Amino acid sequence: MALREIAKLGNPVLRRMAEPVSLEELAAPETQQLIDDMIETMRAAAGIGLAAPQVSVPKQIQIIEIAANPRYPSAPTWPLTVLVNPEITFLTDERIEVWEGCLSVDGLRGKVRRTRRIAIRFLDRHGQEQHLELEDFPAVVAQHETDHLVGKVFLDRMEDMSSLAQIAEWERYWLADPALVTE
Ligand code: NI
Repeated sequence: MALREIAKLGNPVLRRMAEPVSLEELAAPETQQLIDDMIETMRAAAGIGLAAPQVSVPKQIQIIEIAANPRYPSAPTWPLTVLVNPEITFLTDERIEVWEGCLSVDGLRGKVRRTRRIAIRFLDRHGQEQHLELEDFPAVVAQHETDHLVGKVFLDRMEDMSSLAQIAEWERYWLADPALVTE
């Protein structure tokens, strides 16, 4: 396994549509290596999700792992999951407000409204079809990561840019804000 460089805002790879992955391509050693490298890279960066375009591979692959975090003890956990060719269906019009950050957007957090409950279909890393229904924090993380596959970052989803904050100021002024936090 190897750490990969994380593409940062301004890199065009973050702004293009990612390609779907065929079963044959998914089984190929280089794709399995990519997935292993993404897991290592996400963990090294203390992230909870990472999409392939963030390591400069424009393919529809994302990984999510929400471990117990002492800073956010009420946040639910989600074991390591590899999602290939994910498709989201919104299950409600209800939305929740969350503070988001991103490994490709250093030093900033902003408030975004996301759909509270979704279904997501995807292939796992072995090519098996999977289907999950998610709500609240995991649903938000899945929407954030799936946005990376269509060239979007959380800044594009902010309806009001006035909440955009540098991390130190966010911790100073907004740490107690009841909205969920994801990064
Ligand atoms: Ni991100």
